[in-house]
Order: sequence, then structure tokens, then C-alpha cells
Amino acid sequence: MARLGTETAFEVLVKARALEAKGRDIVHLEIGEPDFDTPDNIIEAACDALHDGFTHYGPSAGMPQLRETIAQYVSATRQIEVVPEEVVVVPGGKPIIFFTILALVEEGDEVIYPNPGFPIYESMINFLGATAVPIRLREEMDFRLDPAELGGLINERTKLIILNSPQNPTGGVLTKTDLEEVARAIGNRDIMVLTDEIYSRLIFEGEHHSIMSLPGMKDRCILLDGFSKTYAMTGWRMGYGVMRADLAAHISRLMTNSNSCTASFTQVAGIEALRGPQGSVDEMCAKFKQRRDVMVAGLNQVTGFSCRSPKGAFYVFPNIRETGWQSKKLADILLEEAGVAALSGTAFGDFGEGYLRFSVANSIENIEKALDRVGGWVKNNL
Ligand SMILES: Cc1ncc(COP(=O)(O)O)c(C=O)c1O
Repeated sequence: MARLGTETAFEVLVKARALEAKGRDIVHLEIGEPDFDTPDNIIEAACDALHDGFTHYGPSAGMPQLRETIAQYVSATRQIEVVPEEVVVVPGGKPIIFFTILALVEEGDEVIYPNPGFPIYESMINFLGATAVPIRLREEMDFRLDPAELGGLINERTKLIILNSPQNPTGGVLTKTDLEEVARAIGNRDIMVLTDEIYSRLIFEGEHHSIMSLPGMKDRCILLDGFSKTYAMTGWRMGYGVMRADLAAHISRLMTNSNSCTASFTQVAGIEALRGPQGSVDEMCAKFKQRRDVMVAGLNQVTGFSCRSPKGAFYVFPNIRETGWQSKKLADILLEEAGVAALSGTAFGDFGEGYLRFSVANSIENIEKALDRVGGWVKNNL
């Protein structure tokens, strides 16, 4: 158990709430979830489903109608042919990380994962006694990985490569050329790819590309996507994986052994989410873009901070090296003294040192308040 890591966002949230309980006013920029409500049509579908009796167990891999809907959605968005047997519905995107690593990785294997990156990857790799091999995401490359560097990390022990685009915590987005080079670096080797595309609909510039769309890659990939970020449904707990049917059968057995199934009425609402009007997704994305612009411009005015403009997701990842502070210490003191909850870059791995992560899933008013507070604190203390 000592090898299992955690997700610091939840710990900082608890700390921030404790300060609030003492009467402090805190601007929450730590947690990674849309501040918008789930669209009404989806909520209505769930309420109707509850009244219609979708309150029972369902198949471990997900309801056939939802698997079919997801297969169609992924076929259309990734320009590949996906059948329902290749889809497993799970409670959130996270279980796909857990189950994939559990199913594919053994002690002694190597797994290449992005660093800074979503902390659960490294946690799960370590938990299984495998070797976590970080591929460093560099600011000067807009936090895209360098495929040549990735090629240099691959060896005969490499079992799995994890990609994440748009990326948490940096907002980096991989280009089609990046993905083609990654596919070339893998070549014919017996390596699987977990492609975490949970932010695929939150892109501000250009378009989303999936490595799964490239010739010959579909059968090597496990696609992770879901409803949490796209439809502001984090608390509903529903996501999915798309993978070869034989692997999907194993992941379904892991579901049978752990959760039995994803909640039935939420799955009915999931069908509405994918088939119903998509305007709310575009609106939400436009709002995140506006907020990103305010946040990036504001942070670049703060002495010692410099911030690139992320191309997707809803985070900004400023470089704070010039402040002379370590990331964790700066994040802690900004919470305690300035009332702004952010995360240390090191919450996302060792290569996050020198950075902070701010979520822009908050109102422009609160973002401006946070900028005033951070700017004020820096002016008075540095
Ligand atoms: C990169 C990445 N993958 C997966 C997840 C998990 O999403 P879910 O809440 O659907 O489990 C998150 C959530 O923050 C994430 O940032």
C-alpha cells in the first residue's frame, strides 16, 4: 500500500474548506472540474430513467444501447470503425486507467507516462511493482512530448505507453505529426498505448487528434474518454474505454469483480448526452477559452511568473522559477496568506517543479480576484 500515490487536488480542497470553515474567503482554483451544471436535457433523461425503473443492476460492460451509442460516437470522432463489443462503460474515466494497468502490466515491466501528468498513472504503475518511466513534457515545446525522446525510452521491457492530450496539468495538445512520430517510434513492437482523451472536446486552437485514428494503431490502443469534463458530469461517475474486444472482455470481468456495473440510470442519461444537443459543450469550451485568456494575461503581469497559453483542457501551468520559491511552498503560502487555492506542479510528478497549476473552471470575477490576490501577495513578499 505504501507504493500507492494520490491526487493532491482532493487534499488541497479539504485544506481550503477547513480554512473556509474558520471564516476565510478562498478562491478555488485547485480542483479539476467544470463549474457549470450538467445540461438540463441530461438531468431530465436521468430523472425519467429513475421513474422508468432503471434502478437495477445492468451488464458489467455497460448497457447495450449506451455501448452502441459510444461505438458510433467514437467511430465518428476518431474516424475508425468501433463496434459495441469494443466498448466498456465504467464509473468515470479513472477506472480505465486502473483496470488497464492492472490488466496489462506486471512486476518488472516498464510503463512510459507523461510527467508532469495526471498523478494516477504513476501511482498505479508503482502500485503494481512496475517501473514508471517518465517522459518529460517541456515548456519550450508547449508541453508536448518529444517523440524522439520517447523513442529513446522504449526498450524490450516497455509494456505500455500512456498519452494524454489535451493534457492535465499543462493544457498541452499533441499534433497529428507528433502522434505519427510516436506511432513510428513504437513500430512493430508489442507495446500497448493507453490514450487518455478525457479532454478531447475542450480544445481552443486546432482540432483533437487521436493516435487511435492512425493506420495500424487501433488494436494497440485503449482509448479513455468519458462524460465528466465534456458534459460537466464529474459527480455522476461515468466514463468508458474502447479497446480490442478480447481485452474489453477482461476489463469487463474486472468490472464484475469490482463495481458489478455502472449505475443504470446514469447510463440512460449518457445516451442523451451523446445523442442530444451539443450546444452546451461548445458554450462551455468558449467560456473556458475566455477565462484562459484572462488568467494567462493576468499571470504574465505577476513578477516572477510566466505563463504560456494552453491549447486545451481547463488549466494554466505558469512557470514560477523566477520567484525563487519551490512550487509546493508557494502553493501552500498562496492558500494560507492570499486565499487562493492552486496546486503545486509537483503534484503532477517531479518534472512539475517550478510550476503551479491553476484551474480556470471558475468565473471571470473569481479569476480576477485570484489574480489580484496573487499579484498583491507577490508584490508584498518577494
Ligand atoms: C487526464 C485525466 N484523466 C482522467 C481523469 C478522470 O476523470 P473522471 O473524473 O471521469 O474519472 C481526469 C480527471 O481529472 C484527468 O484529468
